[in-house]
Amino acid sequence: MIEPWWQGGVLYQVYPRSFADSNGDGIGDLEGVTSRLEYLEWLGVDAVWLNPIYPSPNVDWGYDVADYTAVHPDLGTLGDLDRLVAEAGRRGIAVLLDLVPNHTSIEHPWFRERPDLYVWADEVPNNWRAAFRGGSAWTLDPEREGYYLHNFAREQPDLDWWNPEVRAEFERILRFWFDRGVAGFRIDVAHALVKDRELRDDVAATDEDDPHTRAHGIRRIHSMNRPETHEVFHAWRRLADSYEPPRVLVGEVYVLDVPAWARYYGSGSDELNLAFNFALVHADLEAAQMRHVVAATEAALPASAWPCWTGSNHDAGRLTTRWCDGDEALARCALLVLLTLRGAACLYYGDELALAAGHVPPERVVDVGDPPRDPARTPMPWSREGGWDDPWLPLEDTSRNVEDERADPGSTLHFTRDLIALRRTLPDLRGGSYAELPAPEGAWAWRRGEGVSVAVNLGSRPVEVAVEGRVALATDRGREGERVGGGLELAPAEGAVVTSG
Ligand code: GLC
Ligand code: CA
Repeated sequence: MIEPWWQGGVLYQVYPRSFADSNGDGIGDLEGVTSRLEYLEWLGVDAVWLNPIYPSPNVDWGYDVADYTAVHPDLGTLGDLDRLVAEAGRRGIAVLLDLVPNHTSIEHPWFRERPDLYVWADEVPNNWRAAFRGGSAWTLDPEREGYYLHNFAREQPDLDWWNPEVRAEFERILRFWFDRGVAGFRIDVAHALVKDRELRDDVAATDEDDPHTRAHGIRRIHSMNRPETHEVFHAWRRLADSYEPPRVLVGEVYVLDVPAWARYYGSGSDELNLAFNFALVHADLEAAQMRHVVAATEAALPASAWPCWTGSNHDAGRLTTRWCDGDEALARCALLVLLTLRGAACLYYGDELALAAGHVPPERVVDVGDPPRDPARTPMPWSREGGWDDPWLPLEDTSRNVEDERADPGSTLHFTRDLIALRRTLPDLRGGSYAELPAPEGAWAWRRGEGVSVAVNLGSRPVEVAVEGRVALATDRGREGERVGGGLELAPAEGAVVTSG
């Protein structure tokens, strides 16, 4: 393992209910993840991030936590988690959990026993909107005769981060898991913890706002994105850094304004270690758009900070569908981009197979979101037969599966594995600087460090990119070893890593 692993490392996101089922009840579980560590080690990832594993009534599939220091019985026991962490550690794989600090489940005992930990008002105080099922973010609790805040579903009451007891509870929760050897956390809605103290109205979106904000019609400057949230991460980073090895904080910072997003890294070493870059998730797989996001990111980040790139997750969907409309050659280009930019990369389980969104018929939909996010959460296809008994979400298409792709050296799975391995053998690819290179329209090219160039053609016409050297890895595997003199010719949906000398 290269230290510290998260700088330029590869994370692998596991949706535990859908990854691997050890006891045949149709629900993936922790023992299932442990049983597949051999696969993850073979793939070469540095870390796994598990979506929430805690007891939960599952209104939002684990993002409504009823107990922060236990394991959901569907997924196993604390002992199973300890075994997973230990076995992963033996294989050089770090385990990150998902921390959900913005809200709890309404069934968390705190909601009745310690209501002061939540945000209350006597009347609906403002125009804040709930993210699920629409409507006001305030719901009347008849028992308490007051309104509580929920930025998400009404079963997910928001905690009051102005209350020092909330901060103290979460420091206890962090220590609980860090002491068990958990390597860090992905932090859910990291930009939302602190709310405006005076509960002022959010403001209407204008034409200048990004498309995401415009779609919601509202610029959330008071219900989230408060500057005071940074203090929380300062404190957590001190705590995480006090461990050996230091624990890692990866934020779901859903802020598309790149300079505002970059502020969650603090000075570069005193807030989050990494934050997912959603500006890239929201871009099309198109050279000009992506180049622009990456340039803005490199310009905004403090010098010592590392970006974190991803194209899929349990909310946004799968990159093979979102970016590539199912096209496998394009999916390889997307993987090439994610795994050769400067920074950490996060693959969502199945990305390495070019797995497309699953088909979930309306009667099988279980998600509270609209549109439902179930198609991104269908079971991992381990083989042509699937490898599941009656899984909790349907697994219909197994044409791209682990067994077949592992047996085929020309598969996207092998392509992804070889790309990950190349990050280890070419230090420039893992840690070198990013510098954009000139490229014809539709194409995008960049240099990493001194000796590595990457070029990808995301357009619809053949191009020639001015790079020189030897093709170390290409989406068309037959081209590896090719010497490039005057320029690299790339057909549409083709890309390559070229080393000098
Ligand atoms: C985050 C999670 C998402 C969840 C929401 C509320 O965006 O990724 O799945 O629904 O927070 O917790
Ligand atoms: Ca199970």
